[in-house]
Amino acid sequence: MTPRRARAARRHRTVLRREAVLATVPVTLAALLAAAAPATAGTIGSAGAGDPYFPLSGNGGYHVSHYGLTLRYDPAGRHLDGTAVLTARATQRLTRFDLDLMGLEVTGVTVDRTAAAHRRDGQELVVTPNRALQKGQEFRITVTYRGTPKPVTDPDGSPDGWIPTDDGAFVAGQPQGAMTWFPANNHPLDKSSYDFTITVPKGRTAVANGLLVGQHTANGRTTFQWRQSEPMAAYLATATVGKFDVERYTTRDGIQVYNAVDPREASAAAAVLKKLPSVLEWESKLFGPYPFRAAGSIVDRAPNVGYALETQSRPVYDSAPDLSTLVHESAHQWFGDSVALTTWKDIWLNEGFANYTEWLYSEQHGGDSAQKTFDALYARPASDDLWQYPPGDPGSGANLFGTSVYDRGAMALHELRKAVGDPAFFRILRAWAAAHQGGHGTTAQFTSLAERESGKNLDTLFHTWLFQRGKPNRA
Ligand code: ARG
Ligand code: ZN
Repeated sequence: MTPRRARAARRHRTVLRREAVLATVPVTLAALLAAAAPATAGTIGSAGAGDPYFPLSGNGGYHVSHYGLTLRYDPAGRHLDGTAVLTARATQRLTRFDLDLMGLEVTGVTVDRTAAAHRRDGQELVVTPNRALQKGQEFRITVTYRGTPKPVTDPDGSPDGWIPTDDGAFVAGQPQGAMTWFPANNHPLDKSSYDFTITVPKGRTAVANGLLVGQHTANGRTTFQWRQSEPMAAYLATATVGKFDVERYTTRDGIQVYNAVDPREASAAAAVLKKLPSVLEWESKLFGPYPFRAAGSIVDRAPNVGYALETQSRPVYDSAPDLSTLVHESAHQWFGDSVALTTWKDIWLNEGFANYTEWLYSEQHGGDSAQKTFDALYARPASDDLWQYPPGDPGSGANLFGTSVYDRGAMALHELRKAVGDPAFFRILRAWAAAHQGGHGTTAQFTSLAERESGKNLDTLFHTWLFQRGKPNRA
């Protein structure tokens, strides 16, 4: 809805038409995980997590419980030195496994402190440990690397990953870019806790996710230590670097806020940033308690980016956000971050929900009603981009951030609200956030939860609004 996201949406030139699939059959998470990590030849971890839109994203054969990332960045030379220590557990016997890493030079890999053979193959870093890992075994991977990180260009044309700015780097990784700055099991199926230790020249600030647990300056450099203790998908990690004004406080609910603002954006951002506590409080009333200990905002000046991202606990903005963008990225903390995707195809569970939250915010703060927003969208002709593909089946990675996912996804929720009534609708949103907090959710799980909570058969409604091709008829 905001120009920033609309710009991203307008980049979509290719629209793949595909048969809509009615996916309201309940699927267990175990079955999904099994499907996502296909059994591969014997003891070799697969090169991807099984996502049809990004077949090489993520890897099979193990889960990462923790990333310890030690980074040093030199903005002038655009040089990154990194050491990544991953704590993982094998989900099968493994003689070989992959990490995702794009660009950069790998200078060493160890598994449980023993040097491991490794080679590069496109975005795969292929690791052969000295001794096979047993199914269920916990192990530690250390990767040292260096070089000039370069963003990846997404199928929609957007830059994604480590994006240099004039004073540092804007770091956002949806859907693929995490692998441009650290070796990762780069798919939202795998959630992990993170520790970041980031060293930058004195005068620059490095902002990551979670709580600031240490900061010290020596020899002209400052090191920032950040801890994200709640599980996080790799794409939601950030390590944004720049010259920032920093503001810290604790909200009435005990959430620790850290705002980092490019001074050139400060006056434009001030009024909106002041509303963060009241926005989080309002969303907590609607969705249940805010899911993280830390919050905040990173307001950068990154004119070549064209979007904001809901980086966990602390969204990153490419310029001073307007209020509805702040509301949107805050809503993602529940929908997308705490409750994560198992497959990119379900992206409407993130964007439809965050967009609908903007409509609700407007409705409850003296602006247009959600019905009015719905009606204005519904008035668009059948030829409009809005109806080019259904939000529950966008068809390809190029369509993830298009108007159907955002706007028709929100329209689907509005139709649900009208069908079940406000009390059941808000009960459904809270139950969804609570039942999947810190974990994952699928479209099929959402639709069956909505039916359970409302006691209504909603097959036709969800089929019409999420999966049917073309402009739906009014109910
Ligand atoms: N999820 C972001 C939002 O809240 C948009 C990210 C767009 N990313 C991209 N690679 N086009 O709207
Ligand atoms: Zn969004």
